[in-house]
Amino acid sequence: MALVTGAGRGIGRAIALRLAEDGAAVAVNDIAAHHAAAVREAIASAGGRAVDVPGDISMIEGCQSVTRAAAAALGPVDILVNNAGIEHRARVRDHRAEDWERVLRVNLQGPFLMAQAAADMLAASGRGAIVNIASAAIMGFFGQPAYDASKGGLLTLTRSLATELGREGVRVNAVCPGFIETDMVQGDPEIRQLGERQVRIQPLRRMGLPHEVANAVAWLASDEASYVTGASLFVDGGWSRR
Ligand code: NAI
Repeated sequence: MALVTGAGRGIGRAIALRLAEDGAAVAVNDIAAHHAAAVREAIASAGGRAVDVPGDISMIEGCQSVTRAAAAALGPVDILVNNAGIEHRARVRDHRAEDWERVLRVNLQGPFLMAQAAADMLAASGRGAIVNIASAAIMGFFGQPAYDASKGGLLTLTRSLATELGREGVRVNAVCPGFIETDMVQGDPEIRQLGERQVRIQPLRRMGLPHEVANAVAWLASDEASYVTGASLFVDGGWSRR
């Protein structure tokens, strides 16, 4: 079973749909329960197996109850995709401590607690895989220190988890998207403007689409990537050229 956090819309939704298309039973998590239910319905009406497991992955109780509910409905977790994430734009001097904490809780603590909650099931599966959705923003942007730091931390967490869980056969990788056309980008005029400026100077001169990130996640989660762990795959139109 594949458990995808923040899968009610955007990139997470595309990942959930793609994993279901590939034959996985999918547990669709989101803090927005109606969005998670709509994605579960979309998977079911395409002939797939899915359950919605709404909840807040920024807190330990949420991570544990979401993981438990997913496993109770669809069996043990063998793929965990830590996709849920939030943006916050504020300059260093104006950045409120509570916003810093909120971003770090969702984007970094959540993936750790989800990995912790699913670790035994992932190890028992014999082909367990975690894919963390980080960001090309790890290079450090103007006006979003908490977001950038959370994603940089997530890359290092990816390597720590890969090191510790690798001996139990669990692979842990990260995908780093560039600007992708989702509500996170379209819904904020400042981020959208940044994105439009960026794609004018990168090798592929357009924003990416959610399914293009989902393709990379599906590969990393599959047995096709059986000897890949601790890696960061940039899906960013060549922006960072890594
Ligand atoms: P989005 O804002 O469209 O979707 C994020 C989803 O996560 C929403 O459905 C939201 O309800 C859910 N969510 C937020 N907090 C949650 C929580 N505490 N518990 C459970 N669910 C929660 O964002 P988008 O664009 O689809 O981004 C998905 C991931 O990709 C995020 O981690 C983001 O940082 C990352 N990313 C996005 C890029 C982009 O250009 N759109 C670029 C690089 C990374």
